[in-house]
Amino acid sequence: MKKYSKTLQPLLDEKEYERIRRIIEKFAGAGGLGPKLQLYLMDRREKMDNWAYEYWLNDMYLNCRLPNPINSNPGMVFPPRKFTTILDVARFTARLIDAALNHKDILNLKALPVEKATSREPGQPLCMSQYYRILGCCRIPGRIRDAQYIAEFPKDGEQLSEHVIVMCRSQQYCVPVHAADRGRLTEDEICAQLLYILDDAPCLPDIKPVGLLTGWKRSLWAEAREDLMKEERNRRNLELITKSLLVVCLDEALTNNFNCRLQRGGKGFYAGSRDESNLAHQMIHGGGSQFNSANRWFDKTVQLIVSGDGACGLCYEHSMAEGVAVVQLLEGFWKHAESLPQSSDVPAACGSHLPPPERLEWILEASDMKRIEDAAQVLDDLIKDLDFQVYRYEGYGKNFMKSRKVSPDVYIQLALQLAYYKLYGKLAATYESASTRRFLLGRVDCIRSASPEALEWVKAMTQPRDEADDIGNKKVTFHLVSDDKKMLLWDDAVRQQTEEMVDNILGQGIDIHLLGLREAAKDTSPTAASPLPEIFTDPSYRLANRFLLSTSQVATGGNTFMGYGPVEPDGYGASYNPKNDHVIFCLSAFWSSEVTSTSKFAQSLEESLNAMHSLLSKRNEI
Ligand code: COA
Repeated sequence: MKKYSKTLQPLLDEKEYERIRRIIEKFAGAGGLGPKLQLYLMDRREKMDNWAYEYWLNDMYLNCRLPNPINSNPGMVFPPRKFTTILDVARFTARLIDAALNHKDILNLKALPVEKATSREPGQPLCMSQYYRILGCCRIPGRIRDAQYIAEFPKDGEQLSEHVIVMCRSQQYCVPVHAADRGRLTEDEICAQLLYILDDAPCLPDIKPVGLLTGWKRSLWAEAREDLMKEERNRRNLELITKSLLVVCLDEALTNNFNCRLQRGGKGFYAGSRDESNLAHQMIHGGGSQFNSANRWFDKTVQLIVSGDGACGLCYEHSMAEGVAVVQLLEGFWKHAESLPQSSDVPAACGSHLPPPERLEWILEASDMKRIEDAAQVLDDLIKDLDFQVYRYEGYGKNFMKSRKVSPDVYIQLALQLAYYKLYGKLAATYESASTRRFLLGRVDCIRSASPEALEWVKAMTQPRDEADDIGNKKVTFHLVSDDKKMLLWDDAVRQQTEEMVDNILGQGIDIHLLGLREAAKDTSPTAASPLPEIFTDPSYRLANRFLLSTSQVATGGNTFMGYGPVEPDGYGASYNPKNDHVIFCLSAFWSSEVTSTSKFAQSLEESLNAMHSLLSKRNEI
């Protein structure tokens, strides 16, 4: 409760802060409801593997009614490939699928090595359950709350039949990749199946873009799905998609001007003349109903995306696993696919006995088609509203940050605070995901970076640096806050931020705990209508949870990156990937907001990182 009160301090004026402090004291003090709820949680802890997981999963994902794309599903971009023929596309994609099958074989044996923490109490084993929920899983829409389909694993010696769904021109094809009676398809055989699809899909006249429904508001999609399920054929299609290992999207390129904004910072890579921001749009949402958004199944945990112009990436449904687990897996697939020389031989299996893959045919009423149109409208509006850009800061990277004896993650979080303050003259509640995999079924807690110490430091950094006064012809410069003072405040802010980060990854964060107390209040309330304790109904609770900066570090081995949308209408999404000598940011906001702009934010970030560099470079000189 002390920590919670501290997180509110930089967000409230003194009077408001005193008021909320009294509410917190009343809740937490002897005779308050807090201690009773705490006992309830401790009892729950005795009975469950992880007392928080279900509360957290529902609150974070399954209760959310917004469309999955942009609001929840991140997109990941890989460096584009060079394809000259359709065979190149099929070969590369077949290799990705082959890598996924290799991985699934390991999962089926439950043989994934247990990872260990490498810092902050190194050697602690990390929970691996997320890794077993990536292939073969799917989110299922519900009218009030969504559910998850979690893949089953074979019992000893059991052979599973496995398939993938390939989407091309908004059509779904089921490609069996592992038959119980004949074993696994070879890469050549998968390639032949993909070639068939690439050939077949463009010739189909009657396109029914059912996939668009998965990008709709969750409750509406749930209702639509219930109606679809009334037809046996549709039911079977949905089951095939739900249970598939993954979805592969064979895409068309977006137009060059899809994302008409000049990319700031380093150039990065291109697919033809499409820049990284354009590519990220494709991976996050598909580009709208006119492009690839119907060529998606946004409920599926993994959607591998390969586009004719060489753009490659991933869209993933977030409720099953964190980005770190998904990135690690996908980087492995890509490495496998790129490790072998590209063969342009037509696969021998082209003439084989394998039947062509089955295209899923839907039985749709006029009401279903109307729903698809409505879903397309909602998604297209959402996509039009997304202000997104990949921003490569090339000034320096984590080598410099480490040389200043600061954790790069802490450094970048403080840079984000400074960038925000420079634009708005205040701090906002900030979310950074911290992995809690040291605990069984642990996912993430929230590192709150807007601290009183950060506020003091950003205030000092934004004091007018030079004030010039004319005395005759001479200019006199006043430094309102000395560099020494800024450095002292920086040290305080770093100390606080480091403590907050370490507390979180060691399970001493406050957000999961507060959520637990809130849910415990609901569980133990005598009637459903009983009000929540004041601490959760006071506007300060909403303010503390209105994350105008939603951030996370998504470090990757190669030159890839992951981005996502903001979580508030007036907020920013900011993922970052610190490299030795540069940092890749993915910044997002909504055009409809009158207060946000990723261009302005990128500029402010650049100025902040430059100012921090010039301050901290003086460290040895002072
Ligand atoms: N001085 C010098 N170097 C330091 C340092 C210091 N004071 N503190 C840390 N470093 C070094 C580390 O040793 C490490 O070195 P390495 O690159 O050689 O391994 C490097 O800096 C990075 O450490 P740090 O910046 O502290 O970050 P981290 O890797 O420990 O990550 C979190 C911190 C919070 C991001 C991480 O613990 C986490 O939770 N990750 C998951 C985030 C997530 O879920 N993202 C996906 C959401 S979809």
